[in-house]
Amino acid sequence: MRIVSRAMESSSVVNKYELYHRAVQDPPAMADFLANVYRDCSRRWPQSLREDFCGTFALSAEWVTRARRNTALAVDKAAEPLRYGKAALGNLSSNELARLKVLRTDVLSASTTKWDVIAALNFSYCIFKKRARLRRYLELSLKRLNKNGIVVMDVLGGMEIANEMQTQASFSDFQYVWDQVSFNPISREAIFHIHLKPEGGKVMRKAFVYDWRMWTVCELQDLLAEIGYRRSHVYWEGAGRIDKGAGPVAGESWVGYVVGVK
Ligand SMILES: C[S@@+](CC[C@H](N)C(=O)[O-])C[C@H]1O[C@@H](n2cnc3c(N)ncnc32)[C@H](O)[C@@H]1O
Repeated sequence: MRIVSRAMESSSVVNKYELYHRAVQDPPAMADFLANVYRDCSRRWPQSLREDFCGTFALSAEWVTRARRNTALAVDKAAEPLRYGKAALGNLSSNELARLKVLRTDVLSASTTKWDVIAALNFSYCIFKKRARLRRYLELSLKRLNKNGIVVMDVLGGMEIANEMQTQASFSDFQYVWDQVSFNPISREAIFHIHLKPEGGKVMRKAFVYDWRMWTVCELQDLLAEIGYRRSHVYWEGAGRIDKGAGPVAGESWVGYVVGVK
């Protein structure tokens, strides 16, 4: 899905989400990944998705276009990205729109409607710095899952996340900078910024600011087991399930996925 409406391209608020989308997100690939992981864990194809910390909910919008029985709920507490996402829904049919709900609320609020897949992506759950808060979120998620349902969290790891450094990516009309500002090796708290530099436009320094605790794969797996998830698995981008197989090269940054199965 192309998540931009021409009428909105002039505003810098909108540009920030548009450029973020182009630099970071790949909703079709993520929807494929989630469906394949669910199938791998439960032997069926999923239908319903709850996208927590959804931002502009590009993944949910993609999800409802994939099959006529697919439904999605997108949840975020911030009005601005939700507004941008809603303005970009012009490509969806009325039937697809009817199967997509968007909710502005805290993910810790009480609803326990059930879903096949809960996605907490782009490291968003790392805003929970206290174990008790993350535990509460994962307990609620367990209640929100159908039998054999899965919760999926991506994990950013590798020694490189401890380095203060910037990584730059160039696109046809803008540059994207991932800025690792600080990392505390004791608390594993980290600050990251995204800067965006549109060609010929005003530089958007700190377009996105993240203040996270970088949870590790084994911390997440321990927590899932403690809470009562039946199993958990680790998946690697492009490599499928790697529970005990070869993982990332030590030292370099990597992205993995921890999956809890109800
Ligand atoms: C890193 S962005 C992720 C956006 C999107 N998931 C993506 O993949 O690009 C984090 C989002 O989480 C939202 N958020 C943070 N704390 C939240 C909470 N407690 N409940 C709901 N949304 C929250 C923020 O408003 C923000 O839109």
